[in-house]
Amino acid sequence: MTERMHVFSDAQGAAEGCARAIGARLNEAIAQRGTASLAVSGGSTPKLMFREMCQIGFDWSKIHLFWVDERVVPPDDDQSNYRMTRENLIVPGGLPENRVHRIRGEMEAVAAADLYRGAVEAILGSEPVFDVVQCGVGDDGHTASLFPGEPMVADRSGVVAALWVAKKHQWRVTLLPKPILAARSLYVLSSGADKANAVQSALQGPADPLGVPSQLLRGAEWFCDAAAVQHLA
Ligand code: 6PG
Repeated sequence: MTERMHVFSDAQGAAEGCARAIGARLNEAIAQRGTASLAVSGGSTPKLMFREMCQIGFDWSKIHLFWVDERVVPPDDDQSNYRMTRENLIVPGGLPENRVHRIRGEMEAVAAADLYRGAVEAILGSEPVFDVVQCGVGDDGHTASLFPGEPMVADRSGVVAALWVAKKHQWRVTLLPKPILAARSLYVLSSGADKANAVQSALQGPADPLGVPSQLLRGAEWFCDAAAVQHLA
């Protein structure tokens, strides 16, 4: 098992471990540079982590919050990653609006991607290095909105892209591999038995990043519960 793997007995433990690690890295960044940047994943796994981040209490006045990806839906849609984050972190944590850089899912996808790239580059420059990028893993092996078979998995120059995800019948806007892999700290949070095969393929399956985009995360630090790592050798 990789030494960058932290295993907890349950999903709550994994969420707390990941939240604490994120807090420590952001505090270091604030101490060194006066400001910090964090990109978070969507879906449902981050909810527990967001609640823990509210408990810990981060200095949000000095942290820029971004997203790894977004579904191209309005911000009040129940599929919106922004909505999930707003309900579990932004509102309960009292984050200042001017530090929250959401992807405009209500816009046409390419325009939303262009606007988001501009927002990222305005804060972090044209070669963005986030202090922390936190990714999730889908049970089909996707990460961010890079799904199996997506050629952009091999892209190493772009920052943000819009893409059509056929299996979801949905446009997505996603960070591309370059900024994900360039992060000062790259964390993965994954829990539940339904992720066990995906975690095994990501970390120990035959190298095939096009088929298993979450293999991009092999060098990351992982926070998992026991159920999600049950198939790891
Ligand atoms: C998204 C995500 C995505 C997520 C995985 C896992 O918008 O879909 O950001 O990449 O991390 O799909 O999602 P769950 O936590 O819901 O399983």
